[in-house]
Amino acid sequence: QEGPGPGEAGRDKHQRWAEFGPSTRKFYEIHVKEAKFSFHPQLPDSTIWGYDGVFPGPTFEARYGESAIVRIYNDLPANTIGFGSPEISTHLHNAHTGSESDGFPGDYYSRTKFGPTIAHAGAYRDHLYPNIYAGFDAFHATGGDPREALGTLFYHDHRVEFTSPNVYKGLMGFYLLFDELDSGNETDPSSTALHLPSGKYDIPLAFTDKQFDRNGLLFFDQFEVDGILGDKFCVNGKIQPFFQVERRKYRFRFLDGGPSRFYEFYLSYKGVDQPFQYIASDGNLLPETLTLTKFRMGVAERADIVIDFLNYPKGAQLFIVNKLEQVNGRGPTGKILNPGTRILRFDVGDLPASPDKSQVPTKLRELPPINLAEVVKTRKFEFVRRGGAWTVNGELFDVLTPTVQPKRNTAEIWVFKGGGGWSHPIHVHFEEGRILSRNGKPPARPEAGRKDIFVLAPNDELRVFLRFRDFEGKYVMHCHNLTHEDHAMMIRFDIVPS
Ligand code: C2O
Ligand code: CU
Repeated sequence: QEGPGPGEAGRDKHQRWAEFGPSTRKFYEIHVKEAKFSFHPQLPDSTIWGYDGVFPGPTFEARYGESAIVRIYNDLPANTIGFGSPEISTHLHNAHTGSESDGFPGDYYSRTKFGPTIAHAGAYRDHLYPNIYAGFDAFHATGGDPREALGTLFYHDHRVEFTSPNVYKGLMGFYLLFDELDSGNETDPSSTALHLPSGKYDIPLAFTDKQFDRNGLLFFDQFEVDGILGDKFCVNGKIQPFFQVERRKYRFRFLDGGPSRFYEFYLSYKGVDQPFQYIASDGNLLPETLTLTKFRMGVAERADIVIDFLNYPKGAQLFIVNKLEQVNGRGPTGKILNPGTRILRFDVGDLPASPDKSQVPTKLRELPPINLAEVVKTRKFEFVRRGGAWTVNGELFDVLTPTVQPKRNTAEIWVFKGGGGWSHPIHVHFEEGRILSRNGKPPARPEAGRKDIFVLAPNDELRVFLRFRDFEGKYVMHCHNLTHEDHAMMIRFDIVPS
C-alpha cells in the first residue's frame, strides 16, 4: 500500500491556531475522538482513538522560546467498546513543562469523571508548553547552553493503568521543536543554521506493531502482562508501506511507538546494508554526525537519520529492515535475524525540481558540561518483578505518594538497575539526563548525548546525571514498556523547594 503519508497526518492541516493575545504564544485546540481508520486496504476499517481523530495525531511544529497552549478536549464516547479507558491525560514526552501541564497519570479527565490528582472535571484541559527553560537567560550568561528537548518530541496518553491500550488505540502524535540552529529551513540565509533537510524532506516515522483479530480488526490482549508484540508492523499507522522519494537527502525521525518492542534497524539495498547519517537521539541533535549502518531502539526512543537517495538510481528500492529478534515482552533475545523484516520501502524517483541545498555538517549541537560538583544525592532504582507485578524497588506505583523528593536547583545521580532477565526502557519526565556509565563503562556514542530514555538490558546498571531546575511539582519516572508501566513499574517524584 502507498506511503505512510509519513508524518503528514495533520501537518499544516490541524494548525488552526490563533494568536493568543499580544504575545507570541500560540493557542491550539485538539479533540480526542473515536474514528474509523484503515491500517491496510485489504483490512476492514478498525475503530481507533485519535487526537483530532487521526493516527498518528497532528504534527506540531514549535519554536524554541515561543510558548504554546494546547487545549485538549476529550470527545471520547463514555462507554468503551473493546479496550481502552475513555479518561485521558496527555503527556508531551521529553518536554520541559510545569507539573500541571505534564499529563500526570492521575490527572485524567473525561466530561464527567476525573482522576485522584486533578481538581475538577471538564471536557478539556489546557497544557502550557513553554518551549524554553525558564532559567535560560541566567544560565546562558554562564556560557553553557542549557537548551534541552530541541528536536523530536511526541505526545501520548498517560492515563494511569490504561496507557498501553490507549496509546495502542491511537493516542499519540509528534511535536517537533526548532531553533535558530536546527531551524527547519534548509535554505535559511542565516550562516549559523545547520541547513538539515527540511519541510517535506523532514519526515517523522512512528513505528508501532499491532495485532489484528480474525475479522481483521485491531486487537489488544488485555490479559497479557509481560508486554504486547504485534505481528504487523505499522509506520505512521500503515502496515508495511512504501514511500516515494526524490533523489536527494531526507531527514527521518524514527520513533519506537511501542507498546513493547525493541528494534535494530538497517537500511538495505539489494540485500546489502547501506550507511546513513545518524544525527539525533531522543529529543536532541548529537554533538557530531555519526555514520552508521544500524541502530537500536527501545520503546519511546527517537533517532533522526539522514539518507541521501542521490546515491541510488531512479527505480531503486530500499528497505528499512528490523533484524532484532524478540519473541515476548521480556525484551529482545539479542539474536540478529537475516534477512529480518522489511518494514518500510523507499521507491527512488526523479531528481528534485530544485537542487538539494540541504547539508549534514559534522558538528551539530554542543553538549552542555556535566558538573559533578552539583550532585547532592545518589539514588538507586531497581526494576524488578515481584509476585507477578512490575515494581520499582519492590514497590507498586502510587499516584498519591511521592517516592522521592529531589530539591529544585540541585543535581542528582540516579542509578538504574535491571534484573530477572528483562529489558526495560526507563523514562524520566521533565528533565533530560546524561548517561555517565553503563556497567562501569562510558556510554557508546549514540547514547552519549542528552537522553530521556535509558534502556536497561537484563542486569545492566546505568548511572545517570540529572539536574532539577526551574519547576516544582509532581512528575513520574517509569518503564516505557507500556505493559510494565500500566502494571505499576513507575514512581512519582516531587520536585520540592530547596
Ligand atoms: Cu512517554 Cu511518562 O512517558
Ligand atoms: Cu519494563
